Amino acid sequence: MARMEWSCCPLSIEMVLDRVKPHLQQSERGTSSKRRRRRRRTKETKARMSAAGGAGKVVCVTGASGYIASWLVKLLLQRGYTVKASVRDPNDPKKTEHLLGLDGAKDRLQLFKANLLEEGSFDPIVEGCAGVFHTASPFYHDVKDPQAELLDPAVKGTLNVLKSCSKAPSLQRVVLTSSMAAVAYNRQPRTPEVVVDESWFSDPDLCRQTNAWYVLSKTLAEDAAWKFVKEKGIDMVTINPAMVIGPLLQPTLNTSAAAIGNLINGPRTTSLSCRSIRCPRRK
Ligand SMILES: NC(=O)c1ccc[n+]([C@@H]2O[C@H](COP(=O)([O-])OP(=O)(O)OC[C@H]3O[C@@H](n4cnc5c(N)ncnc54)[C@H](OP(=O)(O)O)[C@@H]3O)[C@@H](O)[C@H]2O)c1
Repeated sequence: MARMEWSCCPLSIEMVLDRVKPHLQQSERGTSSKRRRRRRRTKETKARMSAAGGAGKVVCVTGASGYIASWLVKLLLQRGYTVKASVRDPNDPKKTEHLLGLDGAKDRLQLFKANLLEEGSFDPIVEGCAGVFHTASPFYHDVKDPQAELLDPAVKGTLNVLKSCSKAPSLQRVVLTSSMAAVAYNRQPRTPEVVVDESWFSDPDLCRQTNAWYVLSKTLAEDAAWKFVKEKGIDMVTINPAMVIGPLLQPTLNTSAAAIGNLINGPRTTSLSCRSIRCPRRK
């Protein structure tokens, strides 16, 4: 079992590649045809290897219409996996069209309707899967009722998904998308000698005092997940990304993309910041 923090996002690698590709193509024109052939062969071999990796394997992605999950679905299909994906509303084209249009989707993508708050609704999705990527969780900050809008879907929803996992004999591993939010807010100093590691958790009391409800939702959800998987003997890895940015596959803005939009378009700095939380800083 492991907990991983991303200091940068893997999606940005895709973005960087997209930017760099035209330059590479331009400089390639000057290289010899032998080198070009060798590069093409390496590329083809890599493509074959990555496509073969998931062939015949079935995995589940929850909250598939979301920003991170859409990329996960795309990359899993690219690698040959069959993907069972949960969406809240399979009849909403804004949530499904970008997924159904992905390469490989016609043959290997199955969409299921599921809500985090409905117990058992993930059972048929997780059934038969070797891996589960649990990304579904509300990610926004302006809430009227934090318990109903953020805490219940995050915590009860995560446990619902894990309960479905515990019923699936095919399951090998769960990958839970947690967040830096679940790690970083605990009043501990951030001086150079301090190492932030997997033992860190945000402090729920501090989150409540500062109305940092999203931070609290991710902290409580990850904590509950660890307790559940330890009890049930489920192999789980958590990913703790900071802000994930890069190209969007879905037609709508998610919170982290909107934050970048705000930096470009408006006076607000970010909708993401946990402004009320003050962590001690280096003097
Ligand atoms: N983006 C970041 O910078 C970032 C950083 C750290 C961690 N994370 C975590 O990564 C995950 C995905 O984030 P994202 O940026 O991709 O967010 P997103 O685009 O808003 O996706 C969230 C997904 O969760 C689903 N969801 C929310 N409430 C649900 C419910 N009650 N039942 C079923 N599904 C529900 C949403 O479904 P609908 O489409 O139907 O609304 C959506 O598909 C979240 O767990 C988030 O906390 C994100």
